Amino acid sequence: MKILITGVRGQLGCELVRILHDGQSEIGSIPDAYNHAEVVGTDVADLDITDAQAVDAFIKNGSFDLVINCAAMTNVDACEDHEDAAYQVNALGPRNLAQACQETGAKLVHVSTDYVFDGTTPKERIEDDTPDPRSAYGRTKLAGEQLVQKACKQSFIVRTAWLYGYVGKNFVKTMIRLAKEHGAIKVVDDQRGNPTSANDLAYEILQLAATDQYGIYHCTNKGICSWYDFACAIVDGAKIPCTKTPCTSGDLNRAAQRPAYSALRNKHLEDTIGDSMRPWQDALAMYLQRYNDQARDTPQA
Ligand SMILES: NC(=O)c1ccc[n+]([C@@H]2O[C@H](COP(=O)([O-])OP(=O)(O)OC[C@H]3O[C@@H](n4cnc5c(N)ncnc54)[C@H](OP(=O)(O)O)[C@@H]3O)[C@@H](O)[C@H]2O)c1
Repeated sequence: MKILITGVRGQLGCELVRILHDGQSEIGSIPDAYNHAEVVGTDVADLDITDAQAVDAFIKNGSFDLVINCAAMTNVDACEDHEDAAYQVNALGPRNLAQACQETGAKLVHVSTDYVFDGTTPKERIEDDTPDPRSAYGRTKLAGEQLVQKACKQSFIVRTAWLYGYVGKNFVKTMIRLAKEHGAIKVVDDQRGNPTSANDLAYEILQLAATDQYGIYHCTNKGICSWYDFACAIVDGAKIPCTKTPCTSGDLNRAAQRPAYSALRNKHLEDTIGDSMRPWQDALAMYLQRYNDQARDTPQA
């Protein structure tokens, strides 16, 4: 099997490479279909997914069986300030990949977000619920989903949330750094969602991609909390003494509006291949244990 991972230097891309190399993730072994898979990883410097011609040529010349798109503009406030640029990466880039996959017959996994929902009511969203994004990030990611589905029959859309991996920037690392540097953290307590380990997500993506049960899937670790609850679990789990102060979204002057309640339920996974995602507290505990080793060890595609 030959696999292309775009956005390979990001959090999820690195975990996919890691578990394809090791044959197993923190929550289980990956299917035998991936034994001896040839993995090609690209990031913006090698293959800019917004360049339709380059994407077309790369995928056609590469004879890939599976393409996993982890490339995205993920800075939510930067997307708000530069929606055209975000649309290029989050909508047209996936469309370019989808068109090439449709022509070559490669399967495509495209990763999306909980921010496609408005998050105005305290209800876990399932795949059949109607998206209504309130930010440029959410709008451009939703456009990407729609363009992928239109262009490529053999596609999986996998929506996830509040992602953290061993490589790259994320909320967990930021909280650890702030707590160590300042002995204090102040975190919003009025946005709730599902913290999700990139290693767990990578495992579930590979389970799914070994099937032909195409469609939209939600995939997050189990359980719901606020960013403040998550931050407390991080600094307590890392045993960093610090003062913890909850605040509201209104206290922060941020460009983009975030959903107040963006929790997802992995209903389609439950109904098809099964939902192996563990509670977020268990995933975080293992992450904190392994963090120092894994962060030094950047996997290579
Ligand atoms: N992070 C989260 O909390 C979160 C939550 C929900 C959903 N998601 C989704 O999950 C997926 C993976 O997220 P992640 O956290 O792993 O993202 P990430 O760490 O930001 O990685 C994205 C990678 O894509 C690269 N990239 C940007 N523009 C590109 C282009 N035009 N062509 C090729 N590569 C490009 C980035 O390079 P640069 O760094 O140089 O820009 C980066 O290496 C994304 O689809 C994201 O929308 C993430």
